[in-house]
Amino acid sequence: MKKYKFPNNFMLGGAAAASQYEGAYLQDGKSMCIADYKPYNPKLNRKDSNVNWLEMTKQQYEEAKNSSGKIFPFRWGIDFYNRYEEDLEYFKSVGLNTFRTSIAWSRIIPKSDGVVNYVAIEHYKKIFNCAKKNNIRLVITLCHYDYPIWLLEEFNGFLNKKSIEKFVHYAEVVLREFDEFTDYWIGFNEINLTTHAGFTGAGFLMDEKDPKRLEKLYTAVHNQFIAQALTVKLAKEINPNNKLGSMNAASQTYPSTSNPVDSLANLKFTQIHNWYFYDVIANGEYPNYILNYFRDMNIDLDITNEDKEILKKYTVDYLTFSYYASSVNAFDKESKMNYGVKHGLKNKYLKETAWGWQIDPVGLRIVMNDLFFKYKKPLMIVENGIGVDEKWDLDNNILNDDYRISYLKEHLKNMLLAIHVDGVDCIGYTTWTAIDLVSMSSKEMSKRYGLIYVDIDDFGKGSGDRRIKESGKWFNEVSLSNGKKLWE
Ligand code: BG6
Repeated sequence: MKKYKFPNNFMLGGAAAASQYEGAYLQDGKSMCIADYKPYNPKLNRKDSNVNWLEMTKQQYEEAKNSSGKIFPFRWGIDFYNRYEEDLEYFKSVGLNTFRTSIAWSRIIPKSDGVVNYVAIEHYKKIFNCAKKNNIRLVITLCHYDYPIWLLEEFNGFLNKKSIEKFVHYAEVVLREFDEFTDYWIGFNEINLTTHAGFTGAGFLMDEKDPKRLEKLYTAVHNQFIAQALTVKLAKEINPNNKLGSMNAASQTYPSTSNPVDSLANLKFTQIHNWYFYDVIANGEYPNYILNYFRDMNIDLDITNEDKEILKKYTVDYLTFSYYASSVNAFDKESKMNYGVKHGLKNKYLKETAWGWQIDPVGLRIVMNDLFFKYKKPLMIVENGIGVDEKWDLDNNILNDDYRISYLKEHLKNMLLAIHVDGVDCIGYTTWTAIDLVSMSSKEMSKRYGLIYVDIDDFGKGSGDRRIKESGKWFNEVSLSNGKKLWE
């Protein structure tokens, strides 16, 4: 096979999110965010797919808030906030030319009064200057699952339209203050998660059996769409070179059989859980299939004419997405709708991780083709990687994560095939993650994704030392060879 290389100026790097790696949860005037109240469960069953790990009910939230005996790993993360100089040097040594990270809203605006915390601004400037010194470009996400607690407690997050102006104010501060550090911005991380988990996705609480549950979830997404579109407007006013991207969790799914009803179920699933978000963000309008779905599900959204204009006028410049795994859908005969879906079935051709995520590098190439030729906007893969419970081998002073090398190699090769064979315009790839950090769904430190190992366990114990895994050494060679190493 031809040895394809990365295109000119390709952004190759790693990704992370403030709440999962910064730690220092009350340092320099930061206030609490929703992640700071997510407890780790030492009795966790990693394959329990019935547990909604990203949702939190009102009762669970009150319990978490009032409990002092619980373990809250997001509060300490890996202390990147204080160890950034060392970490950015490590990033350089594993070959990253780009780093996708996020800013903590609760650091910049600690209270609902909107007053800016300049101590945090100055600290982020130090971090970003340090990235520059190491020749690392930045892609900055404005909000990655870490809504300030004041937004939740005083407004109930994005369920409330007022959160739009709160977000736009925060975005304006960030876009102006950090203008010199990047042109590449992302609004909300994995905006499509909001329709599954209002707490993590949009920072609000509701009762588990709320009869209006679906309507509330879609309302919150609508408010996020508007906030993001207004941020596109703002970003261009501040600097015409700014590019604002959306971010979705891209799920590649296959029909369980060649029976047309399974294909239809798969198509409807993809429209509702995937395409609809891109259609609004990239095309600027709600497609008919989702409006009809709202009607059939008694979801009544308040979409004004002004909203429609905003969405149409301020679409995103590029599409970013995370991609980890794929799954299978089948027609559900029991369903009340004529296209009911049984989702999350296993694919016999694929292997899975200990958390049941099915590894599918070819699926990435399919997703890239679907996205690019549907929306004709440049793509950036901003998360892709494998979570494994792994230990540093102290006797031999090594972590031989050959499974990660193989995972990344196959995904990167498929990405290059999508670019060079299929003609997809993809401008960057940042692996999840550059460095071990706390898992978002299971809150475990031991679900490790990094090229760099961090000696901290699920209870926050350990030296905190950083060491380069074999995958980190390999990634550096891939980067230095501009991709040639992938084909060996
Ligand atoms: C993505 C999120 O969904 O997946 C990250 O944007 C998250 O925040 C990543 O960490 C991996 O998921 P997890 O649950 O294994 O950490």
